[in-house]
Amino acid sequence: MMTTLSGRSVLLIIGGGIAAYKSLELIRLLKQRQAKVTAIMTKAAAEFVTQLSVASLTAEKVYTDLFSLTDEVEMGHIELSRAADLLVVAPASADLMAKMAQGLANDLASTTLLATDKKILIAPAMNVRMWQHPATMRNLATLKGDGVRVVGPNDGEMACGEYGPGRMAEPVEILAAIEAHFAGSAVPLAGATATRPLTGRRVLITAGPTHEPIDPVRYIANRSSGKQGYALAEAAVALGAETILVSGPVHVPIPPGAQMMPVETAAEMLKTVESELPVDIAIFAAAVADWRVADAADQKIKKGSGGLPDLKLAENPDILKTVAGAKTKRPKLVVGFAAETENVIANAKAKLAKKGCDLIIANDVSADKGVMGGDKNTVHLVSASGVESWPELSKQEVAQRLMAELARRLGAKS
Ligand code: CTP
Repeated sequence: MMTTLSGRSVLLIIGGGIAAYKSLELIRLLKQRQAKVTAIMTKAAAEFVTQLSVASLTAEKVYTDLFSLTDEVEMGHIELSRAADLLVVAPASADLMAKMAQGLANDLASTTLLATDKKILIAPAMNVRMWQHPATMRNLATLKGDGVRVVGPNDGEMACGEYGPGRMAEPVEILAAIEAHFAGSAVPLAGATATRPLTGRRVLITAGPTHEPIDPVRYIANRSSGKQGYALAEAAVALGAETILVSGPVHVPIPPGAQMMPVETAAEMLKTVESELPVDIAIFAAAVADWRVADAADQKIKKGSGGLPDLKLAENPDILKTVAGAKTKRPKLVVGFAAETENVIANAKAKLAKKGCDLIIANDVSADKGVMGGDKNTVHLVSASGVESWPELSKQEVAQRLMAELARRLGAKS
């Protein structure tokens, strides 16, 4: 299966620090998604992970020493960064960040970082006090000003026994940031925890179509691609939420960090959604089939003497309405989508009332708008307090803005 990273080349610079072991997992995740990974290890990194494990996982030569003659002959530091689509520094130690901010170039890692014209993503990892030191904060500001993207660090228990920000972002979070870069999205990459307002929150998203069987080989479905729902899951992960993605059959890569619950039919989708409650936010982006075949045949229906098959339809449960009306375990925010082809706002307002949800995201899915299966979306936020219309945006941008808006409406976790 093609992924956002298929054929992409990542130059991973592994700095010194106990978090270096997590870089091995990052390499594995990147390779799994068909990226090419070349690694540079600093001298300090070699104290924590071996060159052999990095070489085995990347299946590439590992570069370590600026002045190794063979390295320079085979591939100099300029070529190394030219051959890459993105440079990732993980873990980015305080020392490496300082070197980058100052433009120092006294080993292969720092020289490559100075010589590159490619985007750089860093995943800082260090002791809390080192992270909070004004010097590191200054360096961070300088690096951000230079266009360097930052993922993490997270709060948590550290190897040194202290608690606070400084833990390297998890490999899946770094992967999400890398994928966001290649997807061309402007995901606000997790900086300190302040930019992760959904930390500690559970967000459930339904996505894709449902398939309602007619017989073992045929089904009723619709044109939903799942792209909007998956983009929402990606944005929820980026904001720190525990993200559950209940999805019908689609061909979109699973957003890293999201908990994927695959389903086929509306009935399965409802059951799975209910089993995942309670959640803080539930977003119903799935295009659930309104009807199913009442008695799906156990065997393939054959054409022939019996004339046309007599398919009786039954109405599917309305998942959004069921959850919005739940007596117990109703999520604090219930969000529905309204796919309309005419009278978009009026129909969305009616749907808000009918379904009992807090917000309806209305979009015009007339064929000429190309929303179904396309990459763009023009939406209107319809709630009891009024209508807010957004300009045409990519589905990623809609997702990021919407998750940020929902995080704001939910408020801080008490
Ligand atoms: N939805 C759902 N379960 C269903 C049908 C719809 O959860 N069985 C959710 C969708 O995920 C979406 C919202 O309800 O968030 C609106 O779905 P839509 O198909 O536009 O509305 P309908 O209720 O089917 O109304 P109509 O067909 O009249 O437009």
